[in-house]
Amino acid sequence: MSFISIRLSTVRPGLIIPFNVFILVAGSYVYYLREGDDFAQDRLDNLRSRGLKKFHIKEEEELKYQGFLSTLLDGIHLESNEVKTSLALDVTENSAIMVLKNPTTEKSYQMAKSSSDIVQKVLTDNDAILREIVAHGRNVNTNLADRMHWHMVNTASIAIKFAETLKSGINMNSLGVAAFYHDVSFTQYSLDEQKLFFKEVKQMSVQELTVYKSHPGKSVEALQDKAFAEKEVLDLIITHEENISGQGFPNALTKLSPAQEVLSLCAFYDREVSCLGKDPADVYNNLMIDQVGNYNLELLKNFKKFLKSYL
Ligand SMILES: [Fe+2]
Ligand SMILES: [Fe+2]
Repeated sequence: MSFISIRLSTVRPGLIIPFNVFILVAGSYVYYLREGDDFAQDRLDNLRSRGLKKFHIKEEEELKYQGFLSTLLDGIHLESNEVKTSLALDVTENSAIMVLKNPTTEKSYQMAKSSSDIVQKVLTDNDAILREIVAHGRNVNTNLADRMHWHMVNTASIAIKFAETLKSGINMNSLGVAAFYHDVSFTQYSLDEQKLFFKEVKQMSVQELTVYKSHPGKSVEALQDKAFAEKEVLDLIITHEENISGQGFPNALTKLSPAQEVLSLCAFYDREVSCLGKDPADVYNNLMIDQVGNYNLELLKNFKKFLKSYL
């Protein structure tokens, strides 16, 4: 049975829980609260005193989880940064896990969509939360699949916030969904091939490069025949490794839409830091050296300004 985890810090006393709640005790999921109950203060205190930070719900109750999120969102303007951060981490982490696990289902697509929406709401007018989300993802680097799902979370969060600062009319929902899916083909490669997502392109052999360059196309394949997948999203996924110099892949394009350029730049930046483990300060300093010609100068300048304020 699969479970979705929710941070305890997102719930308050009196909040009615629209699903059955389980807690993890000695490696097993133990039934804790019934659907329709509320998290009374003593229950919350009890869980906290046991050092529990998360509770769990069955994945099949995911739709009820969506309803729960909208209840939380209704009061989000009232919430502290801690609650907002927990909410953003929950929703993005659960979506990235679902998208990687079941990339072709409408349910995963809807999760990515509502995550983009929630991230937009949580990050609006707030410069501290993005920093916390991104730092969180980089601190829990364990296995490659986990690192990949955090790369998707970080890329989506960075792209959404950066696009917002540009005020250029980019469709943030498509951008967010595409960011959640951009490297989704990761799970279709062998374990050895998956390591390429964490390797410098310059250090790849010709054969490795051929494999790696197939990943945007394979990511699009997960969605391309699905009626629910929007064309704009597919167009963003296929071009996320392109840039305007004609040196990108798979099609060596020289023209990108503003949204395509933003996703490419944000995915590039987060790959450098989250996947290749580079120091963000070095990546920042090298942007105007290494990336001039790959992206419009104005966009690079804005991105540097953005990194300085938000990351
Ligand atoms: Fe990629
Ligand atoms: Fe990526």
